[in-house]
Amino acid sequence: MVTHYSDATPHIGSPRMTVIGTGYLGATHAICMAVLGFEVLGVDVDPVKVDALASGRVPFFEPGLPEKLREALDTGRLRFTTSFDEAAAFGDVHFICVGTPQQPGSHAADMRYVDSAFSELAKRITRKALLVGKSTVPIGTAARLTELVQSVSPIGSDLELAWNPEFLREGFAVEDTLHPDRLVFGVASEWAESELRRAFRPILDEGTPLVIADTATAELVKVAANSFLATKISYINAMAEVCEATGADVNLLATALSLDDRIGGRFLKPGLGFGGGCLPKDIRAFRARAEELGVGQAVSFLAEVDAINIRRRTRTVDLVRELAGGRLNGVRVAALGAAFKPNSDDVRDAPALDVARLLYLEGAIVTVYDPEANVNAHRVYPDLDYADSLEEVVTGAEVVVLLTEWDEFRVADPFVLGDLVAARRVVDGRHALDASRYREAGWEYRALGRPAVAATVVLAQDARDAVA
Ligand SMILES: NC(=O)c1ccc[n+]([C@@H]2O[C@H](COP(=O)([O-])OP(=O)(O)OC[C@H]3O[C@@H](n4cnc5c(N)ncnc54)[C@H](O)[C@@H]3O)[C@@H](O)[C@H]2O)c1
Repeated sequence: MVTHYSDATPHIGSPRMTVIGTGYLGATHAICMAVLGFEVLGVDVDPVKVDALASGRVPFFEPGLPEKLREALDTGRLRFTTSFDEAAAFGDVHFICVGTPQQPGSHAADMRYVDSAFSELAKRITRKALLVGKSTVPIGTAARLTELVQSVSPIGSDLELAWNPEFLREGFAVEDTLHPDRLVFGVASEWAESELRRAFRPILDEGTPLVIADTATAELVKVAANSFLATKISYINAMAEVCEATGADVNLLATALSLDDRIGGRFLKPGLGFGGGCLPKDIRAFRARAEELGVGQAVSFLAEVDAINIRRRTRTVDLVRELAGGRLNGVRVAALGAAFKPNSDDVRDAPALDVARLLYLEGAIVTVYDPEANVNAHRVYPDLDYADSLEEVVTGAEVVVLLTEWDEFRVADPFVLGDLVAARRVVDGRHALDASRYREAGWEYRALGRPAVAATVVLAQDARDAVA
């Protein structure tokens, strides 16, 4: 269903909202809430980000979000600040969307940003208000933070806390925020539930399913969902390893499995595996938290899910090396893609960049091209070379390796590319290219889990399968 909210006006008595942390999640949430008709104040400790958003520029790539930002700013309902004093005075409902990265040297989540945001806000709030966590956190965080914020708050237990996990996928963030497939409210009181109902009224009015839960269940929903998706991806990639040892074809296997309604085809696409700012760190933090809770064994399979996923990266390097004749030293490799998935410029734990780095460390001369993520990738790996276009990156390449399945790469003509490369050899790390067309154009085509010479179907691909 397509609903246009641009004429939305604030409902009488609607809660005023703040959104603390305006990164991928928070900026999208703040902008969409303002588009839905609420008065919203976005807050971040990064003044550069705040200035960019306030002047109408989204500081990361997300399709459709710049248009929504302009629409929201034009209504006058959306502002940005670095001031927690202003936030505390303004908001009735405060959404906390700060990062929870993996701790250096540990699998656990780094909670310092969450703890700081909650306590800095709590110290300043002087009237009844609801703090709502949206960040992905270890189970038990809401209970711990409730004690923390009420102990530092001038209003004590009048400051309540709830958890509202977020399931948006980068690349589809606007659609997922305005039309989520479900909402989950983790609450400790009827008042908190009614505040959240008021805050999400336009979305609930569309008939969006709502699950009301305790806070621990709400926290668990998010990590359980991500663990399931990661497991499904690693499952088919484990089958790819078996295929490689037997001459079977994982693409045919995935197609046959996906036709079983009980299994389904979503997230059953073999390839280079998952990455990004969520899945890898979320399954690791879940394991760490489960250990603390004494139920480590229950999720110990996630260690294997992680290991299978990481092995796909080294196996992709193996394929490039094989195609290059057994050595990578001095071989010119064109790496197509750097972002962890298409339609995003996010390179956090990106399999693509990891493969490019591993190739470089083995002596290959690697040039990377990503339609949107070159700048972020260069910041992380300045030693790699970067090209400004697909034509530039493949020119003179001895092996081309597809690492992020942008449409630009899928639709490129192998006959045209073939005239630019030094040797027609391609590793399709995402099972996204038309193998038979590449072979027709004289390319040696290789993909993980597929025999070196086989005429196999092109696996149907749903772009929405890109990992959250
Ligand atoms: N990115 C996604 O697709 C997505 C989806 C669902 C859930 N999540 C979860 O949402 C959380 C945020 O993820 P993200 O991708 O938006 O991260 P991000 O790094 O893009 O954004 C975090 C923002 O918080 C700001 N920040 C840090 N400390 C702060 C503080 N004390 N006060 C105010 N701002 C502060 C940072 O400057 C940054 O702008 C994480 O827990 C993540 O797991 C993310």
